[in-house]
Amino acid sequence: MKSYQLVICGGGSTYTLPMIKTLCDFREVFPLWSIVLFDVDPDKQHMVYEAAKVMVEEAMGGVEVRECYTLDAAFADADFVFMQIRAGGLRMREQDEKIPLRHGCIGQETCGAGGFAYGMRSVPQVAEIVRAVRAQSPRAWIINYSNPAAIVAEATKRLFPGDRRLIHLCDMPIAIMDAFAESLGMKRQDLTPRYFGLNHFGWFTNLYDPRGKDLLPAIRTMLKSGSAAPEELKGDAGWVETFAQLGEMVRDFDGEGYVPNTYLQYYLYPEKMAAHMDPRYTRANFVMDHRVAHVRQMCEYIVEHGSIRGSGLEKGVHGTYIVELASSIIRNENRTFIIITPNNGIIPNLPPEAMVEVPCLVNANGVTPLHMGNIPTFYKGLLENQYAYECLTVDALLNGDRDAALKALVLNRTVTDTGRAKGILEDLIRANRDYWQVK
Ligand code: G6P
Ligand code: MN
Repeated sequence: MKSYQLVICGGGSTYTLPMIKTLCDFREVFPLWSIVLFDVDPDKQHMVYEAAKVMVEEAMGGVEVRECYTLDAAFADADFVFMQIRAGGLRMREQDEKIPLRHGCIGQETCGAGGFAYGMRSVPQVAEIVRAVRAQSPRAWIINYSNPAAIVAEATKRLFPGDRRLIHLCDMPIAIMDAFAESLGMKRQDLTPRYFGLNHFGWFTNLYDPRGKDLLPAIRTMLKSGSAAPEELKGDAGWVETFAQLGEMVRDFDGEGYVPNTYLQYYLYPEKMAAHMDPRYTRANFVMDHRVAHVRQMCEYIVEHGSIRGSGLEKGVHGTYIVELASSIIRNENRTFIIITPNNGIIPNLPPEAMVEVPCLVNANGVTPLHMGNIPTFYKGLLENQYAYECLTVDALLNGDRDAALKALVLNRTVTDTGRAKGILEDLIRANRDYWQVK
């Protein structure tokens, strides 16, 4: 059977080890001869690389594992490139979260003003990698998780028009479906979603079981009376609260029978959510104190014991979803994935050029989105507003345009006043001066 070379960009990420665990578990469906880890930060990546070597040797001996720190040769034989870079690292995530909060607005990695600043950092780095991949391996499948995926997708659509092998993905709809599947006592793979929106800004409209019965009404009843987070998130209070907040959204917006993505909480309750956030200790601090520390310990344990046994390493939804997607491509499986893709009439009453997140069939020829139809006025209004924010953010970046930057922030529902937008923009410009400028 053919085997593949995979490059993981952002090899030093806390998500890399669980992703490689998934690759080991899926070695039959996604056979690899080489895994290359690429990162700009040897301090972070080298320990992950050492642990990955042990794990791969143990599970699929003979498969090459390499570490790489320059773009020149990283992609020479690449069949697949998984991208999960975090421009500026968790230190800049902390700024993205804390600066808006100082002005009384949501401080979040991908939503609102934080997501704006992160997008401005992320796009140039993602674009540089895509250019390097295309120079070295024109036909490689690039599967991108790098955030904020909505901004990255809008920008790469403009920078790499018609590149059908560049696929933008988010694991949140799937993590949500995992939670629902668990509550229903089913497997997520047996549920077929209907879903529409932009990244981190969408709604489930149906969730079909294998016989075609829509289980979303049952999910809604369950959510209204308090829901459970998926098992792998149970130890994480932030995610447990987020899934609980879903209940309120479902109760407040009952009409069409949809279920929103959890991220809508920031846009629909910006005041309440901002009041609830601690400006001195944000999610970035939690991730650095817990997940980063945990991964470091795990790497040390694995290297010291020469085995992953007893290390507590588990695969996660992040890795599982991207490997399922790769498998659907190489095995021509025609499975359905929720993907960020050009609208082109999939939702006729939204702009054709918008990068929407919808169910798509995935096979050896790539991604084919499924028709969704017109959406009701409330959702159309929210989405047009959010898409305008995304477009202006990309304009601000590509043209270095301060006027577009301010308008982007003002349009974002989490930035609740123009005065606040101006103050936030000043602070973001200062904090990001090593990454982007606007005039
Ligand atoms: C989900 C989203 C990602 C996001 C992540 C944040 O997986 O889909 O886009 O980056 O959550 O999780 P964290 O634990 O880092 O706050
Ligand atoms: Mn996401």
